Amino acid sequence: MTADYRFLKACRRQQVDRTPVWMMRQAGRYLKEYRALRARHSFLEMCRTPELAAEVTLQPLRRFDFDAAIIFADILLPLPGMGVDLTFAKGEGPVIGNPVRTAADVEALRPLEPDVHVPFLAAAIRMVRRELEDRAPLIGFSGAPFTLASYVLEGGGSKNFVATKTLMYGEPRVWHRFMEKMSDVVVAYLQYQVEAGVQALQLFDSWVGVLSSGDYREFVLPYSTRVLGALEGTVPLIHFGTDTAALLGTMREAGGDVMGVDWRLDLADAWAILGEDVGVQGNLDPITLYAPPEVIEARVARVLQSAGGRAGHIFNLGHGVLPTTPPEHVEVMVEAVHRLSAR
Ligand code: CP3
Repeated sequence: MTADYRFLKACRRQQVDRTPVWMMRQAGRYLKEYRALRARHSFLEMCRTPELAAEVTLQPLRRFDFDAAIIFADILLPLPGMGVDLTFAKGEGPVIGNPVRTAADVEALRPLEPDVHVPFLAAAIRMVRRELEDRAPLIGFSGAPFTLASYVLEGGGSKNFVATKTLMYGEPRVWHRFMEKMSDVVVAYLQYQVEAGVQALQLFDSWVGVLSSGDYREFVLPYSTRVLGALEGTVPLIHFGTDTAALLGTMREAGGDVMGVDWRLDLADAWAILGEDVGVQGNLDPITLYAPPEVIEARVARVLQSAGGRAGHIFNLGHGVLPTTPPEHVEVMVEAVHRLSAR
């Protein structure tokens, strides 16, 4: 009883009746039903309670005609099991109490044991699969080794990635040892989600665009390659980053059935860099959703035109939807994608 989902067909670059569409961060604060639950539970509590995680995963699919669900979780959830102290400060995002600074800190990091450290994630995935039935496929995800490492080194989000690049440039052997460990964690985290039933995976290398292509090749490519290689042949793999115009060709060498790009790069230019034998996901600027409906529709049309009806286009925003986005405008986008791409 496997439904012929247009999202999975597009991942395989097969012909589809309409371009599939979903949104990064589609489960979240722009929905009042999310905020209502969030008012009573912390973010980590929601992630760690399968009933709550399953409920907020499904909320956007009840409202909008999305072609995929993404499991409600976070790229930082593997960290506590490794011995990294993670909290979410109100209004400030993630805070890591014991950032990694030395070779000894790297050695002290423990491997992830998913059954022990993140059992709630498998439980939530099973619950969502049961409730979705044939409505839509479910996407699992992880941070890529670089993006995850950057949080552990910086102690949270960052602008200039000073701690990350200081280790990378100054102590390359420690860097490589750290990335090996992070890669093992990411592989375990993703394999666990596949075993629990996700039907596609997205690897978020959200901040990799701060690197030159030479540094990417030397310090990141081997590890993203290892991760994507370990998952190859399981479910379709989406490999995403932002600000990657200068890196995209090199990133592709790491693997992925579909490359995710942000709004800075025209989709036709992305395919010119990548070659035609790979899918592309993207790439409406999330801020477009603050514009009036006719502007949204015109800009959706522009993205579709740039994709040129190629098999292997998955429509998405260029990055996550923002919390103050009007939900009615998401509806406008989804409807426009399906209507304007009907073959
Ligand atoms: O896409 C989805 O709907 C699935 C859920 C999802 C979340 N985080 C839930 C979340 C996904 C795919 C992520 C990925 C994630 N998490 C990334 C990579 C994605 C990207 O945007 O590039 C990163 C860098 C993180 C780490 C993280 N988690 C940060 C920096 C923050 C704070 C910033 C923010 O948006 O508030 C979070 C918290 C977080 N993760 C929220 C959600 C819904 C907000 C929590 C809240 O309700 O307060």
